Amino acid sequence: MKLMQLAYCSQPFGYSLEILSAILVASRANNRKNDITGALICRSDIFLQLLEGPEQQVKNTFEAIQNDDRHINVHHLINQPVEKRLFPAWAMKDDPVKTWMWSREEVSNGIVKSLSEKEIEEVFLKLAKEATIFDF
Ligand SMILES: Cc1cc2nc3c(=O)[nH]c(=O)nc-3n(C[C@H](O)[C@H](O)[C@H](O)COP(=O)(O)O)c2cc1C
Repeated sequence: MKLMQLAYCSQPFGYSLEILSAILVASRANNRKNDITGALICRSDIFLQLLEGPEQQVKNTFEAIQNDDRHINVHHLINQPVEKRLFPAWAMKDDPVKTWMWSREEVSNGIVKSLSEKEIEEVFLKLAKEATIFDF
């Protein structure tokens, strides 16, 4: 079975705590069934999500996500085979945008779309390392 890693960014539409928790509850239930793990970085101006899992499940999940009207401007960033998962213990980890990421001004100027695949990977790698240290 081919393990794939997919990342995209998008702009939340109608962002609120209620909407975010509804997205996370449904995502985690689905992802457990579909053997998908990952992380969702979120703030009212940006979603940046990493999905990892079997190729077909990742593809189907991303198709559903693209059609979701709780965000707009879905911009695909990475789709590549990987040897192992960055978030093996997380049906979908949620993380606020951290201080070392981007200001609102940078996001509105499109910084996330302009990052290279390697830079995106580094963002998630750093989050995954924090998760291993703190989240028990
Ligand atoms: C930012 C964002 C992230 C999402 N992440 C996931 C996810 O990781 N897994 C998932 O199954 N659905 C995710 N969804 C929800 C899907 O778009 C869709 O609503 C859901 O898969 C439909 O599930 P259902 O057929 O069980 O109702 C996400 C939606 C948004 C807006």
